[in-house]
Amino acid sequence: MPMSLDAVRARFEADNASLLPRVQAFLADILRTPASHARFMNELSLMEHMGSHKIMATQHGAGMDQPTLKHLAEEARHAFFFKRHAEGVARRPMDYVQADLLSPAAGRLYFQKLDIALEQALVGEPPRSKVLYLHMSLIIEFRAVWFYNHYDAALRQAGSKISLKSLLAEEQGHLADMADRLAALNAWDPDRLLAMCRTETDLFGTLLGRLERAIAPPAPLAA
Ligand SMILES: [Fe+2]
Ligand SMILES: [Fe+2]
Repeated sequence: MPMSLDAVRARFEADNASLLPRVQAFLADILRTPASHARFMNELSLMEHMGSHKIMATQHGAGMDQPTLKHLAEEARHAFFFKRHAEGVARRPMDYVQADLLSPAAGRLYFQKLDIALEQALVGEPPRSKVLYLHMSLIIEFRAVWFYNHYDAALRQAGSKISLKSLLAEEQGHLADMADRLAALNAWDPDRLLAMCRTETDLFGTLLGRLERAIAPPAPLAA
């Protein structure tokens, strides 16, 4: 019997255990400084927006089905959710520009490199194919569910009124949905997925490093 979604998720958790203290420290830091927290949420908004834009750009056309439209609508709403909260915390409008973000280049690089890695792992799949879209989405949903769970816990701990509960429920729904749709296309391959998740975890580690540096206080000038 092939490995289930829960089993793949448990491996993902285990492979990410060493990153957890860094993520928790980063989240605690960011929540202490409203200006940084606003920029971070604006960056999450940008990443959700890039995700929804990618679905629109690759899946539009005759084969656009109901689950894909639902996914697109929900990712677009997540971009709105984070933009609204970012501007609420900053008390001003924020653009997707360097001054209003933490490290936009790092987020863009993360998506681009993941895209290339998955295209290479699924050699022969056309760039706009459903199988490629479902893999890319599934791998990102593992990260989204993992990260937003820890982010929500950090928000609770900081006494924030912002809750990720409904957003998390949607991301969890996407995770299960992508797995079902891959299975329906006979494309559920847990070993291949685990290898993709490990690539993603490396890329996330790099992204985290850039975000950590973006909020680090400037080094004191040498005397
Ligand atoms: Fe999302
Ligand atoms: Fe999602």
